[in-house]
Amino acid sequence: MPGFRERLKTRIPDWRRFIERARQDGRAAAYDLLPVLGLGHRDRLSATYAAFQPKTPAFRPSGKARGLADALLHQGVTAMQGPLPGPILADLVAYFQATPCHDPYRPHLGRFRWDAPPSDEVNIGFFTAEEVIRAPHMLDLINNPDILGAAELWFGCKPTIDNIGASWSYPGREKAKGAQRFHRDFDCARCFKAFYYLTDVDEEAGPHVYVRGSNRRPVLESAHAQSDDIIAGTFGHDAITPILAPAGSWFLEDVYGFHKGVLPKARPRLLLAIEYNLYPSPLAPKAPVLERDSRYDPHVNRVFMTP
Ligand SMILES: [Fe+2]
Repeated sequence: MPGFRERLKTRIPDWRRFIERARQDGRAAAYDLLPVLGLGHRDRLSATYAAFQPKTPAFRPSGKARGLADALLHQGVTAMQGPLPGPILADLVAYFQATPCHDPYRPHLGRFRWDAPPSDEVNIGFFTAEEVIRAPHMLDLINNPDILGAAELWFGCKPTIDNIGASWSYPGREKAKGAQRFHRDFDCARCFKAFYYLTDVDEEAGPHVYVRGSNRRPVLESAHAQSDDIIAGTFGHDAITPILAPAGSWFLEDVYGFHKGVLPKARPRLLLAIEYNLYPSPLAPKAPVLERDSRYDPHVNRVFMTP
């Protein structure tokens, strides 16, 4: 297990930078310090925080919500859900084909069409959170009552929709980069993501891979990427689970558990990822980008909607 110093250095190279980031964005302090806490401490912190957060009056989660929460807790990942209705899937894909994407690691490349990345250095074409939240059907999708029910069971309070993203992963690249290598997400003391495959995902199209049970085993506890060999040696080959499914399928995952999106071999993959947190992280817009809509819970949607 990495020592305190190494865990601290994950996000805090020096204290001046830490203070500067915290001054610029109040959400950064909790985010930068998070890797310092072990799993047990984060669980206790989450339970304490949740005790003071809003809850649904007369909360009665559906059977489906209970099943999702149970799988999240024990396996770290749920069974495949969906698929989304065909017209909704078609609208989403059309939107993410019509909206130019970008590579935040290579900003000089500017915006590009989904099927014309300007360099082989671009492994992934990203959309901003604001582009994602404005996609058709998005508010209904992310406020799915079964997911919100599972979240409230899992957190012990209403969730906060926080870090949302969509991206195209491209085939024909030489090496895996970033989230294409095994890693844990340290975005919030407790969080999970809903992943939606918007294109068919088989072995050739860069499946998402989860390491079952790694969500409850606090080893290799750092935000650093790990090699396939280290993951197989630590958790066993059988725990490594590639998730193959047709377009429109979705699943929930405790992203503290190790995961990655494999570098596609033959076809690009379009993935939508919605994070449900206990509290806002610096990975989401600093101020709401949408006007209040009374159809959606104001606490759950507080990051994106004005109160
Ligand atoms: Fe991740």
